Amino acid sequence: MTSTRRHLLLTGAAFPVYALVAELALAQTLPRSVPARRWLAAQSQLARGLAQGTLSQTSWHRGVNELSSQVDLESLAHEMRRARIRNAGTPFGHDPQKRFVTVLDDDERPVRLGYGLALFDFGPDSVITPHAHRYMASAHMVIDGRVRVRTFDRIRDEENAVVVRPTQDVLAETGHAAAMTTPKDNVHWFAPRSPQAMTIDVIIDGLEPGRERYLIEPIDPLRGTPLPDGSLRAPLISFERSMALYSAKD
Ligand SMILES: [Fe+2]
Repeated sequence: MTSTRRHLLLTGAAFPVYALVAELALAQTLPRSVPARRWLAAQSQLARGLAQGTLSQTSWHRGVNELSSQVDLESLAHEMRRARIRNAGTPFGHDPQKRFVTVLDDDERPVRLGYGLALFDFGPDSVITPHAHRYMASAHMVIDGRVRVRTFDRIRDEENAVVVRPTQDVLAETGHAAAMTTPKDNVHWFAPRSPQAMTIDVIIDGLEPGRERYLIEPIDPLRGTPLPDGSLRAPLISFERSMALYSAKD
């Protein structure tokens, strides 16, 4: 890495997000060389751009996945060990245990990131059942174990149903990130494929002023109706029905 590039990676928030993303894309020669703190700060820049409308959801989506392919996972684990972690209540059904993360600076003071950071702790029976979102964006990255990640584009809304198109079905290992935005991969579904697994989630909500901060809409793609163009009409279902229909085995 040249000194100029190193300088760009390590300096503050003054340069535009597109330059940051381009810079990180160039860092491919040193895989996973971005320290966790740089990753967290870069996420702040992306989140700010998204919230202020200076960065499109598609660009944010690409930027977040790019960043996640470059973060030094050992450094991230270290940062999580020294962070303040608190349970986000008792999980609903067989949801994984969600934990809020507050990152601390060198003086052990909370860092204002400008986005939400959470850990999802999967046991063997935990599952995040398939659901669509409104007014928010997020990205889950696997940091422990293996998780089957399925994503779908939201094509259109119908009465009591969402028409979706499958976009991804992968066995995700540590370091794999799956971003979710309105135009891309708006539906996701996470089922562990190891006795334990964990994801770290970057969350930005409140993207549509005057609306709820976010809306989660469970859907049932397994019992959806295939359509001639390869999409799928998936019924909208309740959270209770979602938990009854979907398990970690699906
Ligand atoms: Fe979600």
